[in-house]
This record gives sequence, C-alpha cells and structure tokens, in this order.
Amino acid sequence: MNGVTGRMGTNQHLVRSILAIREQGGVELADGTRLMPDPILTGRNEAKVKALAEEHGVARWSTDLDAALADDYNEIFFDASGTPYRVPFLERAIAAGKHIYCEKPIATSYADSLKVVELAEAAGVKNGTVQDKLWLPGIVAFKKLKEDGFFGEILSVRGEFGYWVFTGHDEGKSAQRPSWNYRKEDGGGMIIDMHCHWRYVIDNLFGEVTDVFTLAATHLPERIDEDGKPYKCTADDSAYALFKTKTGVVCQFNSSWDVRVRRDDLLTMQVDGTKGSAIVGLRKCWAQSAANTPRPVWNPDVDSPIDYYEDWEVIDPGACENAFKVQWELFLKHVAEDGEFRWTLREGAKGVELAELSLQSSEEGRWVAVTRR
Ligand SMILES: NC(=O)c1ccc[n+]([C@@H]2O[C@H](COP(=O)([O-])OP(=O)(O)OC[C@H]3O[C@@H](n4cnc5c(N)ncnc54)[C@H](O)[C@@H]3O)[C@@H](O)[C@H]2O)c1
Repeated sequence: MNGVTGRMGTNQHLVRSILAIREQGGVELADGTRLMPDPILTGRNEAKVKALAEEHGVARWSTDLDAALADDYNEIFFDASGTPYRVPFLERAIAAGKHIYCEKPIATSYADSLKVVELAEAAGVKNGTVQDKLWLPGIVAFKKLKEDGFFGEILSVRGEFGYWVFTGHDEGKSAQRPSWNYRKEDGGGMIIDMHCHWRYVIDNLFGEVTDVFTLAATHLPERIDEDGKPYKCTADDSAYALFKTKTGVVCQFNSSWDVRVRRDDLLTMQVDGTKGSAIVGLRKCWAQSAANTPRPVWNPDVDSPIDYYEDWEVIDPGACENAFKVQWELFLKHVAEDGEFRWTLREGAKGVELAELSLQSSEEGRWVAVTRR
C-alpha cells in the first residue's frame, strides 16, 4: 500500500478497508476459505510511514519500494499517492509483475492512462481502479429504484457537487485541502479530480457519455499552503458541465470548491423521469412518484402553500458497508479466484479521457465528442 499516509490512503483504504477486512477475519472465498490481506505500507518519509504503521498495528512497512516490489510475498500493489506520481509508480509495479489497484485518476493525461492500461494488460496482471461512488448507500438505493422501473423513462440528471473549501485566509480557519489540489502542475484541479468520478457514475447509472460541454473556472486566484504561505491557484476550482449520453439522458454537473451548501448532501443528483424523480445523495436517496407529485400553481406574489420537501420518501438501500471496502473485497476476490471485476484501469482511463476532453471543451468553448461507438 503506497502513499497511504495521505487523507484517502489512511482513512478510506488502510483503516476503513484493509484493516476493517482484517478485523472481520478476511474475505470469504467461494471454496469457504478466507483470504486475509497482509499489508506492507510504503512511502518516502520514514517517520510518517513508521508512525502510521505503529499507530494501526501494521507489522510491515518500508521506504524501499523496490525491495517490497521484488518480494513475491507481496502480490498486489495499491497506490493512493498524489496524482502526478501515479503513473511512474504503476509502471514500476507492473514491471515487477504485481496486480494493480489504485486511486483515481489513474494518470493526468489520457495518453499516459492508456500507456498504463496497455502495460498492465500486456503483463497479464489483474488491475482495477477506485470507483467508490458506485457503492454509496444513496446510489445503491437509486439503483434499486431504477431496476424496479420507478422512473419510467429517465429524462435528465442534475448533479450538484461541492462546498466552501476554506482558503486559509480567514482568521482561525486553516486551509482545508492539500495545496496540490489547486495547482495544475501538481496534478490538481476540479475537473481532473471530479470528472473522473462523473464519467463512471454517468456511464454506469444513466448512459455512456458521448459528448461534453464544460466551462472551467478558477474563481479564487490565491490560497494558503501547508506552510502558511500564499500560492497562486493555477488549476480550475469549479466546473460547469453538460454531458450527452447514448441513452439520451441529459446530465448536468456543477462541481465547485467555492459554493456554500443548502441542499441535502455535498453531492446530490436530481434524477427526473416520466414516472418519478429522485434526489440521490451520498448517504440517502429521496424519491417522489408520479402519484405523490404535487401540482404547484405559479404565483410569485404569495408564499407557496406547498412544502416542496414533503411528498418525498427515503429509499432504504439495505445494509451498506463502506464503499471503498466493498470495492476492495471485490478486487481481492478477483485476484484470488477470478471473481468479476469490471472497474479496471481501462475503465479508469475513460475518466481521465473525460477530464481531458472537458478541459479542451472549456478552452475551445465548444462541445467535444467523447465516444460515439
Ligand atoms: N476516490 C475518492 O473519492 C478520492 C477522494 C480524494 C482523493 N482521491 C485521490 O487520492 C489520491 C490522494 O489524494 P489525497 O487527498 O489523499 O492527497 P494527500 O496529499 O492527502 O495524500 C497524498 C499522499 O501521497 C504521498 N506522496 C506524495 N508524493 C509521493 C511520492 N513521491 N512517493 C510516495 N508517496 C508520495 C503523500 O505523502 C501522501 O501520503 C489522489 O490521486 C486523489 O485524486 C480520491
């Protein structure tokens, strides 16, 4: 597990996935045996890696990645390091014959992402990339509704993602996210970060993305870094995007680190269909059927007699575990016994492709075709 001293690596992948899997006694395989992951933590900074390993009782850690890769005992290489380092790390691990699992984006350019995909496929190693949103309770509940035909024909989707990310300028409020997120040269930017997610979310839930139109913006030109120093924000911190899909479902996604939240969750997708609508959040999904749909009358001169938040029911997704853990278990089974795993590096490359074409759309001020197979 490489680069796991960071936010995602520590919280989602080490603690809530791999250590949680160990605590539950491993992952049950088809033959009834249990697979127990035995992680080795790797990173550049000895003090940080050692401290993380000790804090969580992980016996194995190292700053010598090559030695860890050379050891046949280690079968899977996982990477959650900063985005710009991903490709070189994956290349080293593929060359060492390891199975590959990694955070998104799998690269910062489509060409690089394809290079990695081809290397992994040519080497015959199993591979996957994190597409965690697909296992969130809100989305699991949405999928149930969709499978039940609740929506009739889905017409459109409006996604709102974002929150106010403190810049570090406000008294007593430290900067909130790693500074590299706001520097293009370090792999940062809203589009490379979030359009990777929107690609698999839209492809899997609504229809394959065929075209994109995006307006990218850097609303805040300066933020404060980890050392308390101001730096220039060179990456987009907001993106206003429209996506056409093969199914005809129109998707709009606003993504921003410069907005304040007055909605049900940090990500909500309003899905409107002929027979019903849903608000799909990270944790919850609210639905309104045609029968429950109120009949408003337009009159701006009086307060609405209708409470628009009534007449929505919360949909039970059933028991849900941490989304990252669910996907980890699937990947471990895929490695151990060829279990189904569709969320490959090749799928991850599609996210990078969409991000790149979104930026192109913004620069050129026009629609860009994504795929028209
Ligand atoms: N799936 C999701 O929802 C999600 C959410 C946030 C971030 N991410 C992705 O996870 C990755 C990490 O993001 P983060 O927010 O945890 O960032 P972070 O800055 O907190 O962590 C990055 C980690 O990489 C390490 N690192 C940097 N350079 C390295 C090098 N040369 N060698 C080894 N380690 C190195 C850092 O020490 C740190 O541990 C990014 O690629 C990001 O896109 C995914």
